[in-house]
Amino acid sequence: MKKMVGEFQYEIYERIEELESAEKKLVEAAINTTSQAYAPYSGFKVGASVLLKNGTLVTGQNQENAVYPLGLCAERVALFSAGSQHSAQPIIAMAITTEKQLEANEIPPFPCGSCRQSIVEFESRFKHPIKLFVTGTNGRIFVFDSVKTILPFAFNSDFL
Ligand code: THU
Repeated sequence: MKKMVGEFQYEIYERIEELESAEKKLVEAAINTTSQAYAPYSGFKVGASVLLKNGTLVTGQNQENAVYPLGLCAERVALFSAGSQHSAQPIIAMAITTEKQLEANEIPPFPCGSCRQSIVEFESRFKHPIKLFVTGTNGRIFVFDSVKTILPFAFNSDFL
C-alpha cells in the first residue's frame, strides 16, 4: 500500500529586501554572525539566528573541536543558547546561512538531520511552529512555515 504524507510547500525569495522588517533582521543576524564561527577543521562556517516571541534575537555559529565529533552545528548553538538564556520564551523563527559560495542555481545549506530534530523539540516545547529561513550566498532565501515540513515522521515525546 502506497501512502502520501502531507504536502511539501515552501516559498522562495530572491533577495533579502523582499522580506518584512523583523524577518529581514533575523536573516541579517545569521549572515552577520557567520564569520564568528569556529571552524578550523572543516573551513565551513555556518551562522544561525533565532527570533524569540518577545523580539529578542539570539545567534550561534558552528563550534568545532580537534576531536571532530565533539563539534556542534550553528543551529544547535543558537537554539541551546536561547533555551538556556531565555527559557520561557518561545522561538518563533530561525535563519541559517553559510559563507560558502554557491552557484546561483544551487540550493542553500539546509540544516542537518540532528538539527532538524533539535528544532522540532523547540516547536514541541513551546507548542509554536518555527518559521525557517535558509539562505545561501547567492541571496536566495527558502522559507518553511515549520521545520516539520523538512522532517516528516519526526521523533517526539509521544513515542516515549
Ligand atoms: N554544520 C552546521 O553548523 N550546521 C549544519 O546544519 C550542517 C553542518 C557544521 C558542522 C561542521 O562544523 C561543519 O558545518 C561541516 O560539517
